[in-house]
Amino acid sequence: MKALVLAGGAGTRLRPITYTSAKQLVPVANKPILFYGLEQIRDAGVTDVGIIVGDTHEEIEAAVGDGSALGIRATYIKQDAPLGLAHAVLTAAEFLGDDDFVMFLGDNLIEGGITGVVEAFERDRPAAQLLLKRVPDPQRFGIAVLNEDGSISRLVEKPADPPSDLALVGVYLFTSAILDAARRIEPSWRGELEITDAIQQLIDDGASVRASEVEGWWLDTGKKDELLDANRIVLGAIKRRIDGTCDETSTVTGEVIIEAGAELHGTTVRGPVVIGAGSKLVDAYVGPFTSVGPGCLLESCEIEFSVLLAGCTVRDIGRLEGSLLGREVTLERTVRRPAVHRVMLGDHAQVEIAKG
Ligand code: TTP
Repeated sequence: MKALVLAGGAGTRLRPITYTSAKQLVPVANKPILFYGLEQIRDAGVTDVGIIVGDTHEEIEAAVGDGSALGIRATYIKQDAPLGLAHAVLTAAEFLGDDDFVMFLGDNLIEGGITGVVEAFERDRPAAQLLLKRVPDPQRFGIAVLNEDGSISRLVEKPADPPSDLALVGVYLFTSAILDAARRIEPSWRGELEITDAIQQLIDDGASVRASEVEGWWLDTGKKDELLDANRIVLGAIKRRIDGTCDETSTVTGEVIIEAGAELHGTTVRGPVVIGAGSKLVDAYVGPFTSVGPGCLLESCEIEFSVLLAGCTVRDIGRLEGSLLGREVTLERTVRRPAVHRVMLGDHAQVEIAKG
C-alpha cells in the first residue's frame, strides 16, 4: 500500500497567504496542516508516500525533506498545473504502478486518523473506499447519493441543487482500477479532471465502491474561517507545557504551550494557546484558540481566536480577533501625523476596522 498526498493546487481561497506560500504549510497549532496527514498515514503503517507538488514545490520539499523526520519516505511528483484531483492521480501513475493507495488531500484534517479505514480496505479491497461526512453546505463539496443498502449510486461535484448532504472527505482508498477510470473521463465545466467523475466511472463499470461515514470532525482548511476553526479544534486537545519563561507579573491559565526561548512579561495567557519558540510578549493578553508562531513580538495588545505565522509584530493596537496574519506581518499604532490608517496590503488582503 502506498499513499498519494496532494500538495499542489492554487489555493485561491486563501489569498493573499497563498501568493507567497503553500496552503498546506499554513500552521494549525503551530504545525503545518500537511504534517497531520503525513503522520496519520505513517500511523496507519503506510510509509511509501508520493507527494504531488505544484508551483510551491520548493517550499513543500524544504519542509518535508526526505520524510524521515516524519517516519515516511517521500517521493515528489511535479504536477505542471492544478488540473484536478484525477489529473493528480494520473500524474502519479508511474509512482503508483499497480499498487493500492490512500489518497489524502494535503489541506484536510480528520479526527482520529485513518488506521481503521486502511485496515478495512486492505481486508476487502473494493475498487474504491470513500469517507463521507454530513455537511450543512453541500454545494461546496463533492456529494454522494446512496442507494437504500448504503452503497453509492452516484457522485456529483459541487451541485447547485444538492441531492444529499453527504460530502466526500478528502481521504480516498483505491486499487489501481482508478487509473484506468481516470484515463476515460473528460474535463468538467471548470476544466478539471474530477476524481468524482473517475469514481463514477468505477460505479458505472460495476466495480465495488464503498463508503463509510466519518464520526469525528473533518476540516477542509481552504479558507480563513475554516482554518481558524481547525486551529480551535486542534488546540482543544493540547496539554500544558511551559518551556519558555514567564515573569512574576505574567499569568498563564489552562492548556497552554509556551515553546523554549519564548518570554512573557506582564502578560496574561488563557488557553488553549500555543506560543512559538523565541516569541516575546510584553503587556499583552492572548486569549483562547490562538496560535502565535515563532519569533513574534506582541506588545500592549490583546489577541484572541487568531493565527499568527512566524515573525509577526503586533503592537499597541487594542484587540485583535478572528484574524490570520501571514509571515512577518507588522500591525502597530503610530503617533505619526496625519493620524490616519496607513497600510501596505498584498492583493486580496482583507482588513476590517472597528467602528468608533
Ligand atoms: P482544492 O482545495 O480543491 O483546490 P486548490 O488548492 O486549487 O484551492 P482553491 O480552490 O482555493 O484554489 O484542492 C484540494 C487539495 O488538493 C489541496 O491540497 C491542493 C491539492 N490539489 C493538487 O495537488 N492538484 C490539483 O490539481 C488540485 C485541483 C488540487
